[in-house]
Amino acid sequence: MKLNIAVLPGDGIGPEVTNQAIKALKAIAIEFDHTFNFKQAPVGAIAIDKHNNPLPDSTLDLCKSTDAILFGAIGDPKYDNDPTAKVRPEQGLLKLRKELGLFANIRPVKAYDTLISKSPLKKNVIKDTDICIYRELTGGIYFGEKKLSDDGDTASDLCEYSRYEIERIAHLAFKSAQNRKKKVTLVDKANVLESSRLWRKVVGEVAKDYADVTLDFLFVDNAAMQMILNPKQFDVILTENMFGDIISDEASVIGGSIGLLASASVGEKYAMFEPIHGSYPQAKGKGIANPIASILSAAMLLDHFELFEESELIRKAVEKALKLHVTTPDINTKYHHVTTTKVGDFIEDVINNPNDSNLNFTNIHLGQSTII
Ligand code: IPM
Ligand code: MG
Repeated sequence: MKLNIAVLPGDGIGPEVTNQAIKALKAIAIEFDHTFNFKQAPVGAIAIDKHNNPLPDSTLDLCKSTDAILFGAIGDPKYDNDPTAKVRPEQGLLKLRKELGLFANIRPVKAYDTLISKSPLKKNVIKDTDICIYRELTGGIYFGEKKLSDDGDTASDLCEYSRYEIERIAHLAFKSAQNRKKKVTLVDKANVLESSRLWRKVVGEVAKDYADVTLDFLFVDNAAMQMILNPKQFDVILTENMFGDIISDEASVIGGSIGLLASASVGEKYAMFEPIHGSYPQAKGKGIANPIASILSAAMLLDHFELFEESELIRKAVEKALKLHVTTPDINTKYHHVTTTKVGDFIEDVINNPNDSNLNFTNIHLGQSTII
């Protein structure tokens, strides 16, 4: 298969983790005889510095002319700490989502057996957790009308949803549940918000097309509690934009590190793949950023094109890295010298040598070679 992939590394640790995902994809291309072409473009703070625009037209045009987008991270403290800043890196990501119509953000959360002790949550609570969050991504409070009064003392953000916006993501969530544990939980705040009541009504109607799937409802405050009390009860979580943003960061604690969570943002025409973590500016250039979320996002990219054998190989390589502690310090309390690049090199090696199980642990952790 031939794929043209736009690479938007962005800010902070974005470039270093994205490079590892590209390495994994290049290794897959060789192993399976595919042609993957990569073209880079600026987005976020780096694009503001260069072009005074967090999403330059040339970047958007590139995204529209490629088959898929691999995204790194955006954000910079110089904007976070300045509420008066008119241009912000995040606007680049939001505009990208809106312009490309990426209405569904899919965020899988899994408790890996090898990492179960890394989570601050109890082992018996998180073991076997396997959740897939469907977060609506182009509507709601993120995109509703924003107002600031002339005196600057009153502000508001409108949360608006239409039946159409709810239906299209609901169908995706139910279809996914059909291939999983056949349960959808709608997370909302229907006891307070009119928009949530519309979600309940519409999702209840969509559910009728999927008789084999059970639909549950949970208020978001309760869902936040249930997520850490008993995450195993969830299969597919369907929710609006901001609740999904919050719940998915919370859910990342189950996996042991936010550095492991990948995501796919899909629409009718375009698809973008990105780790859910931010730009982690404090870690930039230190080699400590976990590239696994980005590498697993590349696996989701392959899934999107139905290259399942290929994505499976990436996931196997990641699992091997986790098992052998070839991981960055966020999840590696044993070996502190394993850098972002080393994790990427190891995963690349496993992809290049899929049948070679003759791994030498000592060499890996002496930093000499990965495979003998
Ligand atoms: C995410 C991020 C973004 C969001 C930010 C960077 C705008 O937190 O993808 O979860 O809020 O959607
Ligand atoms: Mg977020």
